Amino acid sequence: MKSQIPLCDFVEQYAKSSPLRLHMPGHKGNPVLGPEALDITEIEGADVLYSAQGILLESQARAAELFGAGRTFYSAEGSSLCIRAMVYLALLYSKETGRQPKILAGRNAHKTFLTSAALLDCKIQWLFPRNRENLLSCPITPEELDTALSEESAPIAAVYLTSPDYLGNRVDLTGLSEICKKHKTLLMVDNAHGAYLNFLSPSLHPMTLGADLCCDSAHKTLPVLTGGAYLHFSTKAPASLISMAESALSVFASTSPSYLILQSLDYANQILAGNYRERLARCITWTEALKQQLPDLQPLFRGNEPLKLTLAPKEFGYTGREVADFLQKRGIIPEFSDPDFLVLMISPEISEQEIKRLQKTLATLIPRKPIPNQPPLPLRPETVCSPREALLSPQEEKNVQACLGRILGTPTVSCPPAVPILVCGERIDKTAIACLEYYGIQTCRVLK
Ligand SMILES: Cc1ncc(COP(=O)(O)O)c(C=O)c1O
Repeated sequence: MKSQIPLCDFVEQYAKSSPLRLHMPGHKGNPVLGPEALDITEIEGADVLYSAQGILLESQARAAELFGAGRTFYSAEGSSLCIRAMVYLALLYSKETGRQPKILAGRNAHKTFLTSAALLDCKIQWLFPRNRENLLSCPITPEELDTALSEESAPIAAVYLTSPDYLGNRVDLTGLSEICKKHKTLLMVDNAHGAYLNFLSPSLHPMTLGADLCCDSAHKTLPVLTGGAYLHFSTKAPASLISMAESALSVFASTSPSYLILQSLDYANQILAGNYRERLARCITWTEALKQQLPDLQPLFRGNEPLKLTLAPKEFGYTGREVADFLQKRGIIPEFSDPDFLVLMISPEISEQEIKRLQKTLATLIPRKPIPNQPPLPLRPETVCSPREALLSPQEEKNVQACLGRILGTPTVSCPPAVPILVCGERIDKTAIACLEYYGIQTCRVLK
């Protein structure tokens, strides 16, 4: 029978054979932190990540099968690498098919999207949905996308959406993908937070719901080392796009991919093909039970993504940061907090006892007087020049207060999870200043 984990098997055999390692890395397999014996490079037999023909090709094919994708490529440099490749691919595709070199993107895009588009000279048009409530979410509806795409004089390269977002909100990818098909544009999804969605019944993964391509940070939700990610192409994605994928990834990737991370992705295939679905379903049941056992907090949970516990605790008298401190003092370490939200990430690697411990700890939080203030939200900042022009212009650093009316030069000023408050090329107005101060940003780089 064929190995389910060809890469792990190869490296294990190699390490056991006590080779004289006259190749990189310099540790030569001797333990310093521990895993060095398994930390190899692209030696004979280990395949080459973006010209894969051997065990990496096999391993990636196994991942594609598990995710119901047409093709899957590994990244040892997170979704960030995949996002750069997606933007580049959208541009190449637009040139090949005569589409406008332009991407319509949800405004809650991770900053890597913005920097890649700026450096690649790809035009971005931001999607600002009617029901936008905070910087981290972009609840764009199919109708809104239809309207935005109908305003284009010719088909554009792609639509780029982040789903789920950092707070655990998913958009209606099924409906949105229909609209993209109607307008003959690619749908690219930043699914960094949703690799596990494929293993729900039914699957809620972008590959199932109609996206053409998406990135998943395997490391964010699956038992994979930090840095492990996938770039998936759907079974219906244009063949020409898939044929450019390896070369697009290699434009941005390190020529020394971490084989520890690649083995972790390889090993994940075995885990995901095992009883992962059952463990995931159990873990979701425990997480739902936690919410129900916290009747005072239950209405304050946000989002529709089952492994994220996102609390909006101001109604309960706390900022997100205060609840984070409260938990931290009791040995429970959150993923993220800001004045408005606390984000806790659950996974099947957490036990029922641990989820109960969290529930019992949250149950000791004493209610206080609600905190009334809402975060300021820059609505549609004025674009003065393109992000690329701003990024490549001379800049100076100024205190936020002195930036009124100036044009932002840094790629983004982001609230903590790297979502732009403003993007470079936009004018800093009063609301933007209030927002920057709200998120504790003290200085900005502005155009000279
Ligand atoms: C929505 C989103 N997209 C992309 C990324 C980048 O992913 P990675 O850290 O895997 O490069 C992040 C990181 O937090 C993210 O939150």
